[in-house]
Amino acid sequence: MNAIRTCLAITNRLVSDLASWGRRERSFILLWIGCLALVGCQSTTETRTYRIGFSQCTGGDEWRKTLLNDMKRELTFHPNYTLLYEDAGNSTTKQISQIQSLVDRDIDLLIISPNEAAPFTKVVEAVFRQGIPVILLDRKIETESYNAYIGGDNVEIGRLAGVFIGNYLKGKGRVVEVWGLPSSSPAQERHRGFREELKKYPNIQVVKELNGQWERDTVRRVVASDLNTLKNADLLFAHNDVMALGAYGVFKQNGIQDQLDFVGIDALPGPSAGMQAITDGTLKASFLYPTGGEEAVETATRILEGKSVKREQILSSIQVDGSNVRALKAQSDKLIKQQLDIEKQSQRIEKLTETYTSQKNTLYLTLTSLLVAMFLGSWALYLYRSKQTAYQTLENQNDEIREQKDKIEAVSQQARVATEEKLRFYSYISHEFNTPLSLILTPAEDLLSKKSVSTNELKSNLSLIQKNAYRLLRLIDQMLDLRKTDAGKQRLRATEQDLVVFIQDIIQDFKRKAEKQRIDLQFIHSVPALPVWFDREKLDKVIVNLIANAFKYTPKGGLIHVVLEGVGNQVRIQVQDNGEGMTPEEKDHAFDLFYSGTKPFNLSKGLGLALSMEFIQLHQGEIEVQSEKDKGTTFTILLPMGNTHLTAEEMGEQMARKADMQPTLSAQQLVADLDEDEVTAVEWPLKRAGTLLVVEDNDDIRTFLTTRLGNEYEIIAESTGETGWERALELIPDLIISDVMLPGMDGLQLTQRVKADLRTSHIPVILLTAKGQIEQRIEGTRAGADAYITKPFNTTYLLEVLRTTLANREKWQRRYASDFLSQSGTENRQDKKFLNELTGLIEQGLISPNFGVEKLSRDMGLSRVQLYRKVQALLDMNVIDYIAEIRLKKARRLLAESTKTMAEIAYETGFSSPAYFTTFFKQHTQKTPSEYRKSPAGV
Ligand code: FRU
Repeated sequence: MNAIRTCLAITNRLVSDLASWGRRERSFILLWIGCLALVGCQSTTETRTYRIGFSQCTGGDEWRKTLLNDMKRELTFHPNYTLLYEDAGNSTTKQISQIQSLVDRDIDLLIISPNEAAPFTKVVEAVFRQGIPVILLDRKIETESYNAYIGGDNVEIGRLAGVFIGNYLKGKGRVVEVWGLPSSSPAQERHRGFREELKKYPNIQVVKELNGQWERDTVRRVVASDLNTLKNADLLFAHNDVMALGAYGVFKQNGIQDQLDFVGIDALPGPSAGMQAITDGTLKASFLYPTGGEEAVETATRILEGKSVKREQILSSIQVDGSNVRALKAQSDKLIKQQLDIEKQSQRIEKLTETYTSQKNTLYLTLTSLLVAMFLGSWALYLYRSKQTAYQTLENQNDEIREQKDKIEAVSQQARVATEEKLRFYSYISHEFNTPLSLILTPAEDLLSKKSVSTNELKSNLSLIQKNAYRLLRLIDQMLDLRKTDAGKQRLRATEQDLVVFIQDIIQDFKRKAEKQRIDLQFIHSVPALPVWFDREKLDKVIVNLIANAFKYTPKGGLIHVVLEGVGNQVRIQVQDNGEGMTPEEKDHAFDLFYSGTKPFNLSKGLGLALSMEFIQLHQGEIEVQSEKDKGTTFTILLPMGNTHLTAEEMGEQMARKADMQPTLSAQQLVADLDEDEVTAVEWPLKRAGTLLVVEDNDDIRTFLTTRLGNEYEIIAESTGETGWERALELIPDLIISDVMLPGMDGLQLTQRVKADLRTSHIPVILLTAKGQIEQRIEGTRAGADAYITKPFNTTYLLEVLRTTLANREKWQRRYASDFLSQSGTENRQDKKFLNELTGLIEQGLISPNFGVEKLSRDMGLSRVQLYRKVQALLDMNVIDYIAEIRLKKARRLLAESTKTMAEIAYETGFSSPAYFTTFFKQHTQKTPSEYRKSPAGV
């Protein structure tokens, strides 16, 4: 019941949620309710149970036991009936109180077989009034308050007994009658029927009436006490077989059992009951008295189930005697056997019922569990689905967020790259501005610092200033163009013009330069005239830029060809050279504005080409490059013919080429800018104070430095780090001035190499660069640079730094030499290593007669020149002088610390004779070796 209540509670909750659920959930709920209904139906088909109370006067004799068994057997066919049984043990009082107790135990019906008739009237009427149906069984009471009476016809049985005895005694004889309990109805009725029948036999006389009270022991007692009288009778008739056999027993005990015959009532089957006694001859006859047990139960069920019953159910009887006892016994045995079978069957049925009940319960339990599992499963599925949906939504949101994050990251990465590129670009722009600015400021300062200036000198400086001012202008012009392009403000203003004349005009500007550099500059065109729609100003810049680039990278004696031809509905302009060409990487990034490859950004190239591409694209044309390292480069421009691709706005007025170029910068000025020969060396009236190696890739700066410093120093100039290094090794200069930013090996790498090599480690390096950042200075210092000068530099300052560095070097050389000779340490590890090695080799070689500079330089892995220069630079003395110093040092030591002879010391220190040793020693120490040995101190 509890399970059903829980199910109902869940169902209620589900039904209230039903409206808000989807189809799937609703189907699930209907299924659940269906299953629940099934369980409900199973519960409601259960039959009602009843309690039958049975009160019996006694349970002690066979007849009563048979009655109870009959009832029980019948009850097996009615499993919903329970029997509550009470045995009063022949006590009327007890039976009355038992009836009351049965009523209290909530019986639905009372079956009573009362001990006596009158004393039960009251209690039975009370029960009946309470609405409890009453069935009287076997014995009657004095009331009409009962529903049914079931029992044998006792008057008739008494009469049958009278008939039998009348016949048996042939109408004459003496009879003893033994009564049952006289206050019980069977005893009274049996007596009445018997006596009425005997009236038909006047010669049959009832000589004695005894009260046996239905009990064996009572009979035995009363018979024994009156045996003398009784033994004269012919027949004893008792109201039941129990009492007849009890009397027989007393007679038998006294050995007179054959003196009279015995007749009883009941004729029960069974080994010690009436039917067996007739078979044995103990009783002459008996009369079947049915128990009515089955009928009583049957009647009770009908009453309780509301069916009609017969109120007086009189059961029939038959006479049992020697003539029919066998057949009856056989029948009865068979019946007993059948009853036993029935009992067995009913036990089996009971067991099966139990099994069925248990299986049914298990089934219900399983079904309920299944339903609960289904419910929980479906609920879990529902929750899982809901969770999945929520999870999916979250996933989608996550994906969106991740996508947005990736986009933001990509954008910020782009922005970061763009910022970095822009910073790099500005850094290089500054660098590019610094060079022409240096070349304007430096000659201007020079001119201003002089009291008198020659015309030549003035012209040369002004020319340099002008050229660099133009260069600045050009750079600014390019930057303005770039700014416009960047802001999308570049507009095409095309007019239809003859492209042949236009290009010829440009070529003309480069003619003089081509001649000077012996470059084969040609304009090759297949048609005499080619009208094309283009923007003069922009195309002019593009072609001038391409040709100027070709000049930059093409060596003397090379070729630059500009080829023009019509190809379909396009024109093709090619600028070809056989110059140094580009690496594949350089080529791939040729048009990139902020290309940051391995090479430093080249503004004149990168900016110009990036702009060229923008300008050609404005024309809806194409520009591309083919190039191979050391073979040459070809730029190809394709422009569409006609003007259908142009908007009305783009088709502007016809404008003259040069007048239209704002800010004004002619190709000639550009050509002048590119022309190295324009810079004339200025004469400086100063003496030369050392050899300087200048490593600078910018031609103008290199030329300027060569010119400006050439008066004071011997200048060797190189344009790359690699050639600079070669010259440094070859010549061992006194100082190196190098730009940091160089193609290939840069200034920092060059410095590192110089400082790491034994042969060059002593050479001071001054780094010259446009970059002023502290990081660059730190890098320079790490590489071993001695000074760092930022462009644009002041020439006077530069000269001062050069002088100071060289003077310091000299001081240091002197200190270094004396320090080294006195065995104290030096600051430069490479130089110390070099001197250690050199000194060791000299000390070892001294004794050998072949020892000299030649062998020493070979052993050191240097050329004679390198050795001389290195020793000179480090110790400010000749190698030969240094060898002499070592000899003297060793000689001094041997003189002061040993007892070796002069001759021995002379040979050990490499002198061919003691006399030469003495002369040499005195020359250098102002003492003879003997004098020195006597007083070494002070020397
Ligand atoms: C059993 C019995 C039977 C008899 C019946 C009469 O108690 O004495 O022998 O027939 O009761 O009520």
